[in-house]
Amino acid sequence: MSLNDLIPVVNRLQDIVANANLSDLDLPLLTVIGSQSAGKSSVLENIVGKDFLPRGTGIVTRRPLILQLINIKQDDPLIRKPGVETDEDPDAMTLEDHLRNSMGGPDLPAEWGEFLHLPGKRFYNFQNAKREIERETARVAGKNKGISRIPINLKVYSPNVLNLTLVDLPGLTKIPVGDQPTDIERQIKNLVLEYISKPNSIILAVSPANVDLVNSEALKLARQVDPQGKRTIGILSKLDLMDHGTNALDILVGKVYPLKLGFIGVVNRSQQDISTNKSLKDSLAAEQDFFISHPAYRRMASHCGTEYLAKTLNRTLMNHIRDRLPDIKAKLNTLIGQTEQELATYGDDLDGAAEENRGALILQLLNRFSTCFISSIEGNSSDIS
Ligand code: GDP
Ligand code: NA
Ligand code: MG
Repeated sequence: MSLNDLIPVVNRLQDIVANANLSDLDLPLLTVIGSQSAGKSSVLENIVGKDFLPRGTGIVTRRPLILQLINIKQDDPLIRKPGVETDEDPDAMTLEDHLRNSMGGPDLPAEWGEFLHLPGKRFYNFQNAKREIERETARVAGKNKGISRIPINLKVYSPNVLNLTLVDLPGLTKIPVGDQPTDIERQIKNLVLEYISKPNSIILAVSPANVDLVNSEALKLARQVDPQGKRTIGILSKLDLMDHGTNALDILVGKVYPLKLGFIGVVNRSQQDISTNKSLKDSLAAEQDFFISHPAYRRMASHCGTEYLAKTLNRTLMNHIRDRLPDIKAKLNTLIGQTEQELATYGDDLDGAAEENRGALILQLLNRFSTCFISSIEGNSSDIS
């Protein structure tokens, strides 16, 4: 079960919650933290399954990136909304494209990014979105390693994503470089704390496996806001870069540092993989190979890697939804009662007919929801806890 398997479930629930005018599901915020170059952006990109976050050695992420994934249906009218500005150069269109356009509109892909600072402009090419993140970072935080607490907001519309918000943050660092102020360490810590102290924030604390875990800045900060380790997932990156003959088995099985959600080892793309444009798909396959063929990790390979991380996130989200269900159910019951009363007052009033239809429809929807949907989630709760 991957993150994508949750899409229909969450969609249905979100539809119903929206129809019933309830406050939204309040899905948790996934926040990625860790020291500079620990692999935060790489982990996030692997989770989203898209190649668009600036990554690299040194300080690359210099403003918070709030990434809002928005699930749209395959045939959503938004996809064909006319007159939108796009990142594609119209002059670069081929003759075929022009022909296709003249015969009923361009075949636009159903997946794009949109920045809050560039309203209405669609980025169909995620490489262009990446360039825009770099440009917008430099515009506000300067070109010389400065950081800014002003976030960049990017929405990704796609039929293949879960409605979810993820936050990529600048890395924790100690020594100022370039334009950075002398108190850079404190500034970044405060910025990170601002995001991870929210109780609905799930903290992905990334620690590189080639640095001793007692020095993990990510775990130190996570412990400040989540002392019992209830909403922190430990991620051990760069397992491929550990000294030959050493391994991180003790950490991965939970013998070293207590976290309820545990530690998950990952192997992201190396700098060379990035330079040679190794695809996300190839890198995920290589990651799996790494764990399956490694003498220390072989036996726990099914509990390692990006795919298992996605499953763990999935389970965590499912539990969160389950925790919200009693509240949603109570509100729905009130609403059902109100709707029933309203329907009863319409009586023979002809003007009320349209209203009545709508009311009856809502009632039907709500009843169906509470009986089928909630019981199915509750029935499954043994699998997902
Ligand atoms: P961030 O600064 O924490 O966002 O880290 P990035 O995701 O930008 O990664 C920093 C550098 O480390 C990049 O050059 C990545 O290619 C490299 N990197 C990240 N994770 C891994 C990993 O698991 N293995 C290897 N070999 N390199 C990694
Ligand atoms: Na980096
Ligand atoms: Mg980064």
